[in-house]
Amino acid sequence: LHVIHIAAEMAPVAKVGGLGDVVTGLSKALQKKGHLVEIVLPKYDCMQYDLIHNLRALDVEVESYFDGQLYKNKIWVGAVEGLPVYFIEPYHPDKLFWRGQYYGENDDFKRFSFFSRAALELILQAGKKPDIIHCHDWQTAFVAPLYWDLYASKGLNSARISFTCHNFEYQGTAPARELASCGLDVSQLNRPDRMQDNSAHDRINAVKGAVVFSNIVTTVSPTYAQEVRTPEGGKGLHTTLNTHSKKFIGILNGIDTDTWNPATDSRIEVQYNSGDLQGKAANKQALRRHLGLLLSDSTRPLVGCITRLVPQKGVHLIRHAIYRTIELGGQFVLLGSSPVHHIQREFEGIANQFQHHDNVRLILKYDELLSRSIYAASDIFIIPSIFEPCGLTQMIAMRYGAIPVVRKTGGLNDSVFDVDDETIPHQFRNGFTFLSPDEQGFNGALDRAIQYYKNDRETWEQLVQKVMSMDFSWESSAEQYEELYAKSVTRAKATKR
Ligand code: ADP
Ligand code: GLC
Repeated sequence: LHVIHIAAEMAPVAKVGGLGDVVTGLSKALQKKGHLVEIVLPKYDCMQYDLIHNLRALDVEVESYFDGQLYKNKIWVGAVEGLPVYFIEPYHPDKLFWRGQYYGENDDFKRFSFFSRAALELILQAGKKPDIIHCHDWQTAFVAPLYWDLYASKGLNSARISFTCHNFEYQGTAPARELASCGLDVSQLNRPDRMQDNSAHDRINAVKGAVVFSNIVTTVSPTYAQEVRTPEGGKGLHTTLNTHSKKFIGILNGIDTDTWNPATDSRIEVQYNSGDLQGKAANKQALRRHLGLLLSDSTRPLVGCITRLVPQKGVHLIRHAIYRTIELGGQFVLLGSSPVHHIQREFEGIANQFQHHDNVRLILKYDELLSRSIYAASDIFIIPSIFEPCGLTQMIAMRYGAIPVVRKTGGLNDSVFDVDDETIPHQFRNGFTFLSPDEQGFNGALDRAIQYYKNDRETWEQLVQKVMSMDFSWESSAEQYEELYAKSVTRAKATKR
C-alpha cells in the first residue's frame, strides 16, 4: 500500500508529545512491512534541522488556495529516521510556521487549515496516488472534509481517508465562517450531522468533521475508544462517535523499540539489559550525581515522572506524589513543562522550594536527553492521569525497567496490570494501578510500590526483568492498521466496480 501521513508532529524533529512518537513509530513499522510510507509536515522554524537528512528544496512550487487567493508553497524533502518527509513552507505574509513554537498561536486554526489544504495540493500536484491518506488530530482533521468536497473528484480519487484522534480534548473549533478560508462550503458543512459543533451551533468542529467524513476513524487504545462514546468521556462528541461507531476503533499505540532501547541507547550513562540490572543502578547513581541528589542510600527508590503538566495528567496528584514519596523515604524527579501559565508558575514555586533538597528535583522544561536519563534511572514511574488516550511513558518506562504506577484509565488500563490483581494472569502483571483520582486512591498504589521496593528486593528485581522483556513494539498494532487500510481499499474497489 501507499500511505501518506499528514501531521503536525513527527519525532524526533518536531515533537511536542506522543503524537510525534506515533507518527514516526507507526510509519517505520508500516515501512518495515513493505509499504510505501511518506509524511507531510509544516516546515517549522523551530524543528531539529540537524536530524533531517539530505534536506533540499524541490524546483517546483505548489500553489494552494486560502482566503480567496492562491499562495505559493516551497516544498522541501528530506529523510527522518529513514522515512521520506515533505515539508511545506508557505509564502504567506503571516509567516505561518515561523513562530518559534509549534502550537499555541492565536491563529492556530488558520495555520493548520491552510496546511491541510496545502498538503492535499502537494499530493495532487506531485501526481501521487496514495491508497491511504492518514491524518492526525484536529490540526489535520480538515483533510477529511476537504478531500470529499474538493479532491475526491480530482486526480486523488483512489485514496481512502483514515483519521486518528489522539486526544478528544482538543477538537479545533472556530466560528463557522473561518472554515470558508480553506475553500470549504460553510453552508453545506455547518449542519448537525456534519461539522457543526455539538454544543455551540455557530461554531464548526474540525475533529467532528474528520469523524463524519473519514473512511476509517481510530483512537489510540480500546479502553479510550469506549470512554469517548460516553457523555462523561466524549467531550461533546459521544453522540457523533456512536452514530459512526461502525468505522470507529481503538488501537493501542506501540513504542519505537529501536529508539527506546536501554541496551543500545548511547545517550544514557551505561547501556544495560534485563540481565544486567547493575547497569540500571549505575544510571541511577549518575542521575543522582547530575542533579545533586543524595547518593549513597540504596534503599531509596527513585520515583520518576516525565510529562506535559496539563490537568489531563492529574497535576494535583503529581504534586502530591512529591511529598508522599519523601515521606515514605524515596527520591522524586519530575521533568515536565506546562503551556498553562498558572500551572507552570505553581511548579516553579515548588521547584524553588526543593532547589537544594537531598531527595527531590523538579526540572521544568522539555529535554529529551534528560528524559532518557530519568527513564533509565527510575525504579518507579508515576502516571496518575485523569484521562489518558494511550500514554507512551508507561511503556517507555517499562522498557527501561521502571515500574509504572498509573490510574486505570484509557490506554493505561490496556497496558498496565496490577501486581496484586488475582483476576489477571501472572505473566501480564506489571505495575501498580488505582482508580479513584484523589490522594487516597493514589496512595493505595504508590505506597504499595514503594513498600515492595523496600521490603522485597528480589521479587522487585524479578518484576523489573519481566517488564523489560514485555513487547510494546509497534508490530501488532501496525498490523491492525494494515488490516483496516486493506479492508477499506478493497471495499472501495468493490463499490466502484
Ligand atoms: P502526551 O502525548 O499526552 O504528552 P504520551 O505519554 O503519549 O503523552 O507521550 C509523551 C511523550 O513526550 C513521551 O515520549 C515523553 O517521553 C515525552 N515528554 C513529555 N514531556 C517531556 C519533557 N518535559 N521532556 C522530554 N520529553 C517529554
Ligand atoms: C495524545 C494523548 C496520549 C497518547 C498520544 C499518542 O497526546 O494524550 O495519551 O499517547 O496522543 O497517541
